[in-house]
Amino acid sequence: MSASSGLLELGNGAFGKVFRVIETDGTECAIKCQTIDINTTDRDKNIIKREFEILTLCKNCPQIIGIIEMFYEDIGNKRHIYFKTLRMGCNLHQILKSDQVLTNDHIIRFFRQIVEAVKYLHSIGIVHRDLKPSNILVNSDCTTKLCDFGASTRIKKGTIFAEISLFPGDYVMVYCPERGIWKDAGIKGKNRDNTYTIQYYKSKKIEMNVTVDRIRYYQRYTTITHCSPEQYFLELEYVTGEKNDIYSLGVILASLYPIYLESETESEPQKWYRENLFPLNKSNEHMYTNMLIKMYGFENISTLIEDESRKEEIRINALAVEKLDVRNYILATKRVIPPIMMEIIVSSMEFKPELRPTVEQILTMVDSIT
Ligand SMILES: Nc1ncnc2c1ncn2[C@@H]1O[C@H](COP(=O)(O)OP(=O)(O)OP(=O)(O)O)[C@@H](O)[C@H]1O
Ligand SMILES: [Mg+2]
Repeated sequence: MSASSGLLELGNGAFGKVFRVIETDGTECAIKCQTIDINTTDRDKNIIKREFEILTLCKNCPQIIGIIEMFYEDIGNKRHIYFKTLRMGCNLHQILKSDQVLTNDHIIRFFRQIVEAVKYLHSIGIVHRDLKPSNILVNSDCTTKLCDFGASTRIKKGTIFAEISLFPGDYVMVYCPERGIWKDAGIKGKNRDNTYTIQYYKSKKIEMNVTVDRIRYYQRYTTITHCSPEQYFLELEYVTGEKNDIYSLGVILASLYPIYLESETESEPQKWYRENLFPLNKSNEHMYTNMLIKMYGFENISTLIEDESRKEEIRINALAVEKLDVRNYILATKRVIPPIMMEIIVSSMEFKPELRPTVEQILTMVDSIT
């Protein structure tokens, strides 16, 4: 990094930080720095490797950030891994939090580019799994680029709803019969006999092949405010497919529309604000369960849950919520959304993944407006 200067923090994420650097020729880049323990197991290394591979695969898509260069340095027992990318102005979450007015044209322009990015990903068999406004980078000319492939994975193209589907790099819990406990582990790969090679998190050298019935409590990747019901309830069945991203696209699109407050007098300009479709803080999972019940009903939700004790807890919550469907839930948030965009949101947020449109179908709907 000696040839670069002008460090400025652009972002701060789960694994590390993102800095602006100014190259000796004056061009600005962004560097995402992720730090792992040199002695760590392959689990953390695999996550970073997977992100690098996906960024490399996407370098020809204009709506995806891509990667200019990757390098690392070892300091003590830490490995700092750097991804150098193009520097963008800000992220979409920051715009949504600002008081900048977004016209319908802006919304279409942003959304179309996000859809193009997802179309590219799905066409090469990648699901992003963490689509949300802070992972969409924006420049002042309104161009957007999708970033943060830390949760992404490669799937068989066209997978709507994979049965048990675990991917290299995924965090899991594995049952240890000798000790009668579940232990934190990472998936290294799938074998021909349908077993998975796993590596226990704290014991680097221990690798073993286990059958899927010993693998549980899969890590949820997507931020709860943007994840699909099947991703949210995935303790029991890990569900990864293209339709996870479609659901998140619906949530993002709804969140682009402002909420209007009623004016007290006619002369007063109408006040508005923007917020997530599910305005929760990360720790408030209970509230999210209630929102899902509101939209889809307890009966539907409970089909995703095998654990009887959780089902009972959720059934009790269900008694307290007043039922609404997705459309009414969105209308109740007092957003004014043009009919086609509303159709995109409602269909993308269908409870059953197979009923959600494909990304190509969403693009066709968006293009029918312009
Ligand atoms: N190329 C870039 N140009 C400008 N800002 C960037 C760039 N890449 C990332 N950022 C900023 O840094 C933030 C974090 O980046 P990113 O999402 O890739 O990291 P992360 O560690 O995976 O984050 P998190 O865990 O919070 O999702 C982004 O939301 C954005 O604000
Ligand atoms: Mg991020």
